[in-house]
Amino acid sequence: MKTTGGTDDQKRRAGERAAELVEDGDVVGLGTGSTAAHAIRAIGRAVDDGLDVRGVPTSFDSRALARRSGIPRCSLDEVDDVDLAIDGADQIDADLSAIKGGGAAHAREKVVDAAADRFVVVADPSKVAESLSRPVPVEVLPDALAAVERDLEALDGDPTLRRAERKDGPVVTDNGNLLLDCDFGVVDDPASLSTALSGLPGIVEHGLFVDLVDAVYVGTDDGVDVRE
Ligand code: 5RP
Repeated sequence: MKTTGGTDDQKRRAGERAAELVEDGDVVGLGTGSTAAHAIRAIGRAVDDGLDVRGVPTSFDSRALARRSGIPRCSLDEVDDVDLAIDGADQIDADLSAIKGGGAAHAREKVVDAAADRFVVVADPSKVAESLSRPVPVEVLPDALAAVERDLEALDGDPTLRRAERKDGPVVTDNGNLLLDCDFGVVDDPASLSTALSGLPGIVEHGLFVDLVDAVYVGTDDGVDVRE
């Protein structure tokens, strides 16, 4: 389930502006996806120019991009604090609740983003909505797939196993698990749904991010719209 809609220029503006928030000595959470990638590249250029930072990648892909960009990397358990996390989103509502996981990385993203003193979402205008309505990615232990599908249906969800685009078979996350994209229609109460999903056995993590986002940088055709 990859999100499209915005232009690469819009994403670049958002990512590059958010990268300007990084200060010397910071530990920075490095998000996943095409918008966060612009931030990672910009941080890499700043490192070339002498900025002293360490990045905590949120996925295999963001780790690889950080390495190629020359950003020193560390894991969450090596640091006392994450100063700032910059990450993308699939949809973000007026209260700054978000749906993430289009890149299958939301479990590690949530750990890193939640650990940050400040979590900034970078997005293009197609991600902004009044209410959340996209299917919610749910990472599931493979042995629990059928049981979780039943539990999600009992919550009035309509789960679909995410399949790999370029090969036969399901998407497997960096953590070796499966993904269900669960359609709940318009999510009227993201906090309640988040709590309900977190209580289901077999769910490793879901893609509802409630009360975590501090600001959204939306790249437009001629600038960046900041919401906080
Ligand atoms: C990965 C994510 C991404 O941040 C989200 O899918 C947005 O990606 P993009 O910036 O490429 O549209 O949540 O799990």
